[in-house]
Amino acid sequence: MIQVSEERVEQHFPTTVLVRTFQAVNDLNTALQQRFDQLEHDPHADYTNEAPLSVNTTQGGYQTKRGLSVLELDYPEIRQLRQEIVMPSIEIYLAEVLNADPLFTPFEISSWVVSLGEGDWQAPHFHATEYTLISGIYYVNVPDCPPPKGTLEFINPNLNAVSLGQQDASRNHQPKSGQIILFPPYYMHYVHPMRRAETRRVVAFDDRLKL
Ligand SMILES: [Fe+2]
Repeated sequence: MIQVSEERVEQHFPTTVLVRTFQAVNDLNTALQQRFDQLEHDPHADYTNEAPLSVNTTQGGYQTKRGLSVLELDYPEIRQLRQEIVMPSIEIYLAEVLNADPLFTPFEISSWVVSLGEGDWQAPHFHATEYTLISGIYYVNVPDCPPPKGTLEFINPNLNAVSLGQQDASRNHQPKSGQIILFPPYYMHYVHPMRRAETRRVVAFDDRLKL
């Protein structure tokens, strides 16, 4: 009879998420709130709400056009967000997770604002497209409400292990204002409905290889 000489279960390639929480960003977040309030109500076509489109996963609320790339807008608070929070975080993820040298990895960032009010939510989706390296979210304002309201929920990529085995189907991230989270573009996620009149507002972004 044939016998096993060696056996082991190997865990290959974890889904790596980087979370960074910043301090002393209240003034920055207030300035961003005011700026985005202003942009949402600007009659200029570039700032029209993209959330109602059927192809969009944002249910209710407000979302800027992706082509607008809000992190490129030339306002002091947006420059600060880009230079002091988003760019360093991307560089850390590139270096520590992807093992790539940020200096020799040409990339470009597309970015957009998502504002969710009472009852608004985001359906499950992921950001994986060709050459997208990292997806991320900076939390400008997260209203204080009990979970899972407003929670970011990630879906276990190993669905067979969920349906046949006993693995958790998902993992919750309870965000807070002044926090950034970076994750692989293929990692499916959604946002639970808000139950507060206050606006939950984020800047979402994708970091793509620039060819
Ligand atoms: Fe997303």
